[in-house]
Amino acid sequence: MTQLNTNFAGIKSPNPFWLASAPPTNSGYQIMKAFDAGWGGAVWKTLGVPVVNVSSRYGALNYRDTRMMGFNNIELITDRPLKDNLREIEEVKKRFPEHAVIASLMVETRDQWHQIMQDVTNAGADGVELNFGCPHGMCERGMGSAVGQEPRVLKTIVEWVMEVATIPVIVKLTPNITDITKPALAAKEGGANAISLINTIQSIVGVDIDRFVPYPVVDGKSTNGGYCGPAVKPIAMNMVKNCAQHPGVQLPISGIGGVENWRDAVEFILLGASTVQVCTAVMHYGFGIIRELTEGLSRYMDEKGFSSIEQMSGKALPNVKHWEDLNLQYKVVAHINEEKCIGCQLCFTACEDGAHQAIRLNSNPAIRIPAVFEENCVGCNLCSLVCPVENCITMERRDDGSENINWKERTLAGTVPVSFNDELAGGLHHTVPMPMEALQKDLPRHYKVK
Ligand SMILES: Cc1cc2nc3c(=O)[nH]c(=O)nc-3n(C[C@H](O)[C@H](O)[C@H](O)COP(=O)(O)O)c2cc1C
Ligand code: SF4
Ligand code: SF4
Repeated sequence: MTQLNTNFAGIKSPNPFWLASAPPTNSGYQIMKAFDAGWGGAVWKTLGVPVVNVSSRYGALNYRDTRMMGFNNIELITDRPLKDNLREIEEVKKRFPEHAVIASLMVETRDQWHQIMQDVTNAGADGVELNFGCPHGMCERGMGSAVGQEPRVLKTIVEWVMEVATIPVIVKLTPNITDITKPALAAKEGGANAISLINTIQSIVGVDIDRFVPYPVVDGKSTNGGYCGPAVKPIAMNMVKNCAQHPGVQLPISGIGGVENWRDAVEFILLGASTVQVCTAVMHYGFGIIRELTEGLSRYMDEKGFSSIEQMSGKALPNVKHWEDLNLQYKVVAHINEEKCIGCQLCFTACEDGAHQAIRLNSNPAIRIPAVFEENCVGCNLCSLVCPVENCITMERRDDGSENINWKERTLAGTVPVSFNDELAGGLHHTVPMPMEALQKDLPRHYKVK
């Protein structure tokens, strides 16, 4: 029987879905409503010295009418007095003792860290999350990502917190850094119990081309914001993987960034997370998405035979290698299912202009189904990615699986190209059309299907 309940570095919750520290966790009212709807935990909107925010605050990447494919904000931490937040934390914990309430914190001095740790612990928080990630506003004041980008400073602050911590401490990392494992290691060295990532990515989400000012507009001016939502998921997952694979880090990971449905959550967990946090999707669709998240995850775990989150966490990690470890003998080519093909010829255009001229049109324009010229197909996947019909273009294996040799082994064996005109180059023996052929107006008919 599938168990969704989790124990994340000592913080227990009925399921691995937590609200990320953000507007949906601004108040006890919202968090009680979310728990009632089925969320397992909530990271309270970051507490500290309350701020003054600007209006407006958000911008979005409305990519092909998806409205909020990417989301951008210039909001700061909480603008509510600490005493109100503490009272509400206490109320939420009383009403929902089994749920995880994590206090996100951001202050400056050692004394302030000690004081606020004591306050939220007394209020009954199950853990804290140190916000070393906010990439706008707070970093100008020496907090947020200004700390997350300086591993030594980060480690010192974690040490201050650990001097007084009696509840688990999660360090939330900024992605605005070249190597995410450096602050992750610093968190570990400072004594943190877990890490969470990612916070938002520094960004300009768009520019008003009539008023010459980026979004969001504040009285005719703007500033860089923090990017999140579905668009950042690939970046977040890579960073989670990097931390999970690092032998020196080995801390529980709460995965954040673009989680919108149960599949997103599964992907983060397979890459090493053991809880996931959600912000943008809740801001877009509300707390109700938790039903799809929990039901989908449960069904997936049942199907795969996982009885707990721990069992599935990191399952994909052994399959994430360095490029030099990949089998160079593995060979796939595109195959078009003629029964499914609708003759849109998008695959032809993509391969012709953007890949390897391995898809040909019939010389009879009335026949719209293209054909793959296998000798030229490098198996790049592009045509299958642009094809609008599901499973119409599939990649078929052509090597017999008997050989496995990677770049590392070929380097040792002396069979890698080393000079500019080396005969060992991978692209030799493909039919590359002559440059002048590009100017022939009857180009599509040039490729005749035999
Ligand atoms: C409007 C807004 C406010 C946020 N405020 C905070 C905050 O106070 N503290 C914090 O740690 N992260 C904050 N975040 C970042 C989120 O917690 C989360 O890390 C980020 O949005 C990525 O997750 P998502 O793609 O699900 O939105 C905020 C994000 C947004 C959109
Ligand atoms: S993109 Fe897909 S549907 Fe369109 S012509 Fe190519 S194979 Fe057919
Ligand atoms: S896999 Fe790449 S090279 Fe092969 S047909 Fe498709 S787009 Fe062309």
